[in-house]
Amino acid sequence: MSVTQPGMHEEVVTFARVQTFDMPARAGRMALINLDNDLDHTRPSTFGSQGLDQINAALDQIQAMDDVAAIAITGKPFIFAVGADLSAIDTITSHAQALEIGRRGHDTFRRLGEMGIPTFAFVNGAAMGGGLELALHCDYRTVSSAIAAMSLPEVFLGLVPGWGGCYLLPNLIGPINALEVILTNSLTMNKQMTAADAKRLGIADTVLEPADFIEQSIQWAADVLTGTITVKRQKPDTGMWDMVISGARAQLDTRFHGALSAPYRALDLVAAAKSATRDQAFAAEDQALADLVMGDQLRASLYAFNLVQKRAKHPVGAPDAAAARPVTKVGVVGAGLMASQLALLFARRLQVPVVMSDIDQPRVDKGVAYVHAEIDKAVAKGKMSTDKAARLTALVSGTVDMSAFADCDFIIEAVFEDLASKKQVFAQLEAIVAPEAILATNTSSLSIAAMAQHLTDPQRVIGFHFFNPVAVMPLLEIARTSATDDVTLATAFAISKKLNKSAVLVADAPAFVVNRLLTRFLGEITKAVDEGTPIAVADRALEPLALPMSPFTLLGLVGPAVALHVSQTLAAAFPDRFYVSPNLAKVVQAGKRSIMIANGTGGQVVDPEVAAMCDTGSIVLTEDEVRERAVDALADEARRMLDEGVVAAAQDVDLCMILGAGWPFADGGLTPYLDRSGAAVKVTGARFLPAGIASVPS
Ligand SMILES: NC(=O)c1ccc[n+]([C@@H]2O[C@H](COP(=O)([O-])OP(=O)(O)OC[C@H]3O[C@@H](n4cnc5c(N)ncnc54)[C@H](O)[C@@H]3O)[C@@H](O)[C@H]2O)c1
Repeated sequence: MSVTQPGMHEEVVTFARVQTFDMPARAGRMALINLDNDLDHTRPSTFGSQGLDQINAALDQIQAMDDVAAIAITGKPFIFAVGADLSAIDTITSHAQALEIGRRGHDTFRRLGEMGIPTFAFVNGAAMGGGLELALHCDYRTVSSAIAAMSLPEVFLGLVPGWGGCYLLPNLIGPINALEVILTNSLTMNKQMTAADAKRLGIADTVLEPADFIEQSIQWAADVLTGTITVKRQKPDTGMWDMVISGARAQLDTRFHGALSAPYRALDLVAAAKSATRDQAFAAEDQALADLVMGDQLRASLYAFNLVQKRAKHPVGAPDAAAARPVTKVGVVGAGLMASQLALLFARRLQVPVVMSDIDQPRVDKGVAYVHAEIDKAVAKGKMSTDKAARLTALVSGTVDMSAFADCDFIIEAVFEDLASKKQVFAQLEAIVAPEAILATNTSSLSIAAMAQHLTDPQRVIGFHFFNPVAVMPLLEIARTSATDDVTLATAFAISKKLNKSAVLVADAPAFVVNRLLTRFLGEITKAVDEGTPIAVADRALEPLALPMSPFTLLGLVGPAVALHVSQTLAAAFPDRFYVSPNLAKVVQAGKRSIMIANGTGGQVVDPEVAAMCDTGSIVLTEDEVRERAVDALADEARRMLDEGVVAAAQDVDLCMILGAGWPFADGGLTPYLDRSGAAVKVTGARFLPAGIASVPS
């Protein structure tokens, strides 16, 4: 799947070349279509208009031959095909045009499956989206055990598998397995199947070794044609079909509350696949595809996909990597929740010695023990060899003696979120470490310039804000102060890359991007509750945004105490906009760790003890009113952040919200949602992005 920048569409043609030969075992002549865009494997073959022409021409050519017993289709090295050329979507401006794209794909692909002779897909490499659908149009599929990716990622992107997938797959493998691929995998950050998964699910008829995959596939096809091998197909049981669909619909409702179009459209198509004819089903897929292509959720998703694929890999504002200093030993000050996760990450990814410190030996021991236990878990799960584990374990040590940092070239502090403590740590470090060693802070909200204020070399100080859980969250906010020099910054970006994090350059402003925006909107939610709106109503208010979790679930995850602390820091910086909830303070004082509790049926309800301790007013807002306040506040805050230069562009705000808070692709992160909901214009007088970048051009 490939997406290019809006307006820059030029199709890379995938050629479909035909060769014919006699199969072994006197199975007859085979016509083998080879899909190849004649570029290396880093540029996978996709289907645009000319690519579909190529397949049609290949089928014309085969049709004109009178001695072909079977057709097979395969790809170039490492790639079968990765589906539609999504870069063309920017050029689609009408529903009719969108419908036509669906029809052309269907007409072409079904021709292959309806040639009247057996058809085989030799899935030699990555098969995604339309690539996998093309394989589904064939009668049989061989799959290489070495395939790196196999999926129907459409729903993840805001589409449906619309070139046959929603009909052919459930009719091949049943609705349960089909939904695993179409919905579950796709909605689990676009999870890919292995060849073994494809076999288990019934997509692959056989899995063959990569070394002589094509030869073995031809032999296998010949065996099928001569009857040596029989492929048993069982018609899916339609008795369970409706029940499976309603179970899946209930799951979607719990997660998305009807807010995302694509998963529901895909589910409707799979539901209809039970009894629809092929013509009806393909027409319905065309319709769904066209509706989604002409919707803002897909356009925002493609924008988000582009940010994650491109902007995240080439961070704006990163100096030339050549200026970066090598890092041969890392120091981590603190051995608490974040520090111990950081120590593990640095050791794992940089493979250099990492030393941790804390204020007493038991805390040090606890931090080091956490790292060692995580390494042991990786071994137990078969994710790490015992050799590697032994090496990593030896790399991580702990001490209460800060002189152990003397030979570190990068030291990150993750002590309590308290300015005086952090200043003291930096002052101590400056007296110990080499002059060129970099001093980083994992602060969530404090001023880095203030931390560095009394140092001799404030130019080596930088913010390195990770998100919890560190191993899972891809974002790293790299915060430079006005004093931070380019070598420090270049080293920070180089380290981030090695850590496999996506870095966004931010200014040294209170709480940077993600926490500032989350705190501003959570402030509106807690304020609504304090004023009198029931907690459950306020908690449901953001459902139309399809956020990864409700506001009070988020508050529980962050921890009420941490959330309160950050709101206090931000309220001190911006007292007119940030709200500190007295009820939240009470919840913290009562030692409550969450606001919502499990209801026993997979959902959540307000903890009655929390509800009982809250003093509330008499202004009761509706969900819509709460949402309007929260969304308006986000628009206001995002605009201020851009005006203050906290990040270079709205795209960086979105990247931060996608990678640091898991905000949905369908909202484009944040600013595309603010534009399309009208909040941006209403509150700030202008859109964040020009129309057409993350929305359907009007
Ligand atoms: N918890 C999160 O989700 C999260 C996420 C991002 C950033 N952060 C930031 O990371 C930092 C640490 O947070 P945490 O949640 O890991 O806290 P934590 O309380 O779990 O750990 C802090 C540790 O620092 C130790 N410490 C305090 N002063 C010290 C000193 N002078 N020298 C050595 N050790 C000292 C404490 O004993 C404690 O073990 C904070 O700045 C916080 O804002 C936290």
